[in-house]
Amino acid sequence: MLYGHGKIEILHLPTPLEHLKNVSEDLGVNVYCKRDDLTGLATGGNKLRKLEYFLKDAIDKGATVLITEGGAQTNHGRLTAAVAAKYGLKCAIITADQYPGEISANLLLDGMLGCDVYFVSDMEIGRQAVIDKYTSEGETVYYVPMGGSNEIGMLGYMECAAELDRQAREMGIPDAAVYVTVGSMGTYLGMLLGLIDCGSGLKLKGINVLPYAENTADDEANETELRNALWDYYCRVRDSLAGGKDVWGLKPEDFDFETTHIHGAYNNAVSEVRDTMYYLARKEAIIIDPCYTGKTFEAVVDDAKSGKLPQGSDVIFMHTGGLPGIYTKHHRIELEKELMPYMHIGEF
Ligand SMILES: Cc1ncc(COP(=O)(O)O)c(C=O)c1O
Repeated sequence: MLYGHGKIEILHLPTPLEHLKNVSEDLGVNVYCKRDDLTGLATGGNKLRKLEYFLKDAIDKGATVLITEGGAQTNHGRLTAAVAAKYGLKCAIITADQYPGEISANLLLDGMLGCDVYFVSDMEIGRQAVIDKYTSEGETVYYVPMGGSNEIGMLGYMECAAELDRQAREMGIPDAAVYVTVGSMGTYLGMLLGLIDCGSGLKLKGINVLPYAENTADDEANETELRNALWDYYCRVRDSLAGGKDVWGLKPEDFDFETTHIHGAYNNAVSEVRDTMYYLARKEAIIIDPCYTGKTFEAVVDDAKSGKLPQGSDVIFMHTGGLPGIYTKHHRIELEKELMPYMHIGEF
């Protein structure tokens, strides 16, 4: 029970905290990986921690169908579908993206899990239409917000912060820097508040991959807009979980994050990010994704090389999942081009 909210246990916890020996030797920084890609259902990922809390709330409210929204390749949607399948609920995902012309990556898994995906031209209208459809069929709808990022979803990462703090103390790295992806913000904000709650010495850095400004390539505008969005989210959490009391004592300038790894857009194909993915795969056999974790690990590598992370210091990379992303058409095409030389066809 956290701040008055319970959960239904779905995951394999605690997820491992692993030392990445080869990468550490190469970069001169002690790199660790928190394996939240290994959370269990349907190829895993960070959203399952949030969904433990949503599922409890949904079942308490008598829900028969979970509905959520996001990009066509939403990892959060796939994991909502996974939880629904496991607990006998129906599921629907609504996206304002175009149908990509093939059922691949997360869409393939959504279908396998028995989840309906609605491609709508207008999110406001489409969302209401889908909710009305299920309601008129006698279903009780529980709506999970995009990315699972509200006061309830965030609790999963408050809990993760305490788990990570325990592991970091046991492994002798209580003051490590922790690099985590910032998309819809729930993972970052949950961890930040959870680390404060347990008096942790870990220092959280968010790596933003989802532009918040209209001009997506403007890092400075993204920084301002994201800081405002985090502050609004924090105020909502403070009001709903702490009765308006400022128990965490944060100010907008306390949010530590970078907007310099967005590479101009959300979920774009970026050769430097793919190089980072190959680097981690070839050094540690850990697969990261091109949309989220690839950009965050790129920040770890860049900061180690530039000295922002001092030589000999400790850093934890939060692996938040996203594996199916490598099978998304526009990423797969680029990966295939670069990996073709590894295919030796008819050579012997
Ligand atoms: C693989 C992966 N990592 C990180 C994130 C970011 O988490 P949040 O949306 O809580 O900021 C997401 C969000 O979809 C994700 O799918």
